[in-house]
Amino acid sequence: MSQENWLYKNRLKLALATLTLTGIGLLIRRWYPRMPCPSSLSFLLENPFMNRVAGAQLLLDRAGVVPGMKVLDVGCGPGRITLPAAQRVGGNGEVIALDIQPAMLQRVQEKLAAQKVTNVRLLQAGAGEGKTEPEVFDRAFLVTVLGEIPDKTAALREIHNALKPGGILSITEVFPDPDIQTPGAIRRLAQEVGFEVNGKMGSFPAFTMNLVKPA
Ligand SMILES: C[S@@+](CC[C@H](N)C(=O)[O-])C[C@H]1O[C@@H](n2cnc3c(N)ncnc32)[C@H](O)[C@@H]1O
Repeated sequence: MSQENWLYKNRLKLALATLTLTGIGLLIRRWYPRMPCPSSLSFLLENPFMNRVAGAQLLLDRAGVVPGMKVLDVGCGPGRITLPAAQRVGGNGEVIALDIQPAMLQRVQEKLAAQKVTNVRLLQAGAGEGKTEPEVFDRAFLVTVLGEIPDKTAALREIHNALKPGGILSITEVFPDPDIQTPGAIRRLAQEVGFEVNGKMGSFPAFTMNLVKPA
């Protein structure tokens, strides 16, 4: 079934899930106004709603990830995108999973060990701190992360620097994330640091914008 048909058929369930998640999101922001999404709330990321509207395979397809690539997953959280990306790039590729929270990286580490995945490296850092290597990545991801980063310009500048010329940063935002960023805000930030916007896919409740580092 196409995504449009599925969304139409499940509109009531979707509305209910959206209201519930909005409520939880607003409560979280009230309790933890300046904190990254806690690892205890990983269920808000790993659930059938997220898999349907912003599932890993869909996002890997949108970014054009293929075997052999080197991928940077910024704000990897519990590894929802990291592990499928590692599987897709295969033994000749590599994924660097970066997150500011050790507890999130611990979750990724446990999954890597359980699934015997060996082509992922973990990097504990804040996006924008400059801990990534320059010009080595083919693709980078920011999936429901940008709004949590205090210095968004520094983060995008670091990712721009870490990508090879012609590399792509794929940004996905999902409603009802309380930190959701608008396409206009992403466009402004992208242009500020030298990215070119290369299309927007999807709309509501999830969209992806691909930003290219000019070759
Ligand atoms: C809402 S979760 C998204 C996780 C994952 N991208 C996904 O889609 O499942 C946001 C993640 O970004 C991380 N994060 C927040 N601020 C960050 C920063 N300044 N630098 C790096 N990671 C950050 C959080 O720790 C959290 O794991």
